Amino acid sequence: MGEPGPLAFFLASPKGGRYPFQWVKFASGDFMSILRVENLEKSYVKGFVPKKQKVLKGFSFHLERGSITGFLGANGAGKTTTMKCVLGLAQIDSGEVLFFDNQPLSLEVKNRIGFLPERPYFYEYLTGEEFLTFYGQLSTKLSRQDLKSRITQLLQLVDLSAARTKRLRDYSKGMLQKIGFAQAIIHRPDLVILDEPVSGLDPDGRLALSELIKQIAKEGAAVFFSSHLMHDTEKLCENLVILKQGALMYQGRTDQFLEQMGVSVEVTAFLSGQKKTFAALASSDAQNLIRDLVAQGAQVAEVKQVRKSLEEAFVETALRGGAR
Ligand SMILES: Nc1ncnc2c1ncn2[C@@H]1O[C@H](COP(=O)(O)OP(=O)(O)O)[C@@H](O)[C@H]1O
Ligand SMILES: [Mg+2]
Repeated sequence: MGEPGPLAFFLASPKGGRYPFQWVKFASGDFMSILRVENLEKSYVKGFVPKKQKVLKGFSFHLERGSITGFLGANGAGKTTTMKCVLGLAQIDSGEVLFFDNQPLSLEVKNRIGFLPERPYFYEYLTGEEFLTFYGQLSTKLSRQDLKSRITQLLQLVDLSAARTKRLRDYSKGMLQKIGFAQAIIHRPDLVILDEPVSGLDPDGRLALSELIKQIAKEGAAVFFSSHLMHDTEKLCENLVILKQGALMYQGRTDQFLEQMGVSVEVTAFLSGQKKTFAALASSDAQNLIRDLVAQGAQVAEVKQVRKSLEEAFVETALRGGAR
């Protein structure tokens, strides 16, 4: 690490001292590794007859500063367990988890991480403002006044200013998701881990959250989030980590993943006088499709190669066979 940056100032500042009111910047831009996970293994004892089962089968990945990484995998693939292991909420069997240029998890490291769990618990008698004040007091050393203006800023960011004094029990699922996100970034973390953050949001809310994620990544934080919404993930994430049954299927750039997956094929044909378009995921499937269509007396009008969407590529890799 180079010379101490504002973070060191913050840590050294006396209790009640002013917290620098910008995102905590890196010391001198010389450490790029935000999270490094090496050979992560985790078992749970499961089943009617209790038996140890490996749910994370020894995989590695890393996140860099300012990156947005989508964490994909079918239900039960191990995404939530990975996040819990990374955050020290679940004990790992073996492997290593290192933060901010290879430091192990410590209180100081935790202070620089924001987390939105898959099923957060909300004290429903609190108002949005009280909820953020509670977490802000836990995770920041902001003075009352600074915390108040940070909360105003966050409520504006997530478009909940009008619900500031409403109790959380009157919030919709999407509103809770948004206030949960605000809680995760209240202390301007350098690593933001979000477990299915967009699942309860309408398209408008998802777009707003995507913009926020982009903004915090631009300011230097690494964002790591799991999602089932491929369209949003494809647009937002430069990087992907894909799990299949606890094993790593892919880690790397989204565009390279889509390139590796090749193209899909669209076949347009006239069948019983009607024009129909059929999709095939691979050219071998397309050849079979064309043969079947011709055998049924169809007239093939057009065969077109189309770049696969992340959704198609994901279904092929993580749900069915495997990467080609
Ligand atoms: N606390 C637990 N005890 C036993 N098994 C668990 C526990 N948590 C998760 N699992 C199992 O670990 C596997 C991975 O689960 P999870 O990490 O929740 O997957 P995902 O988040 O990708 O849907 C699943 O088979 C699940 O049943
Ligand atoms: Mg999960």
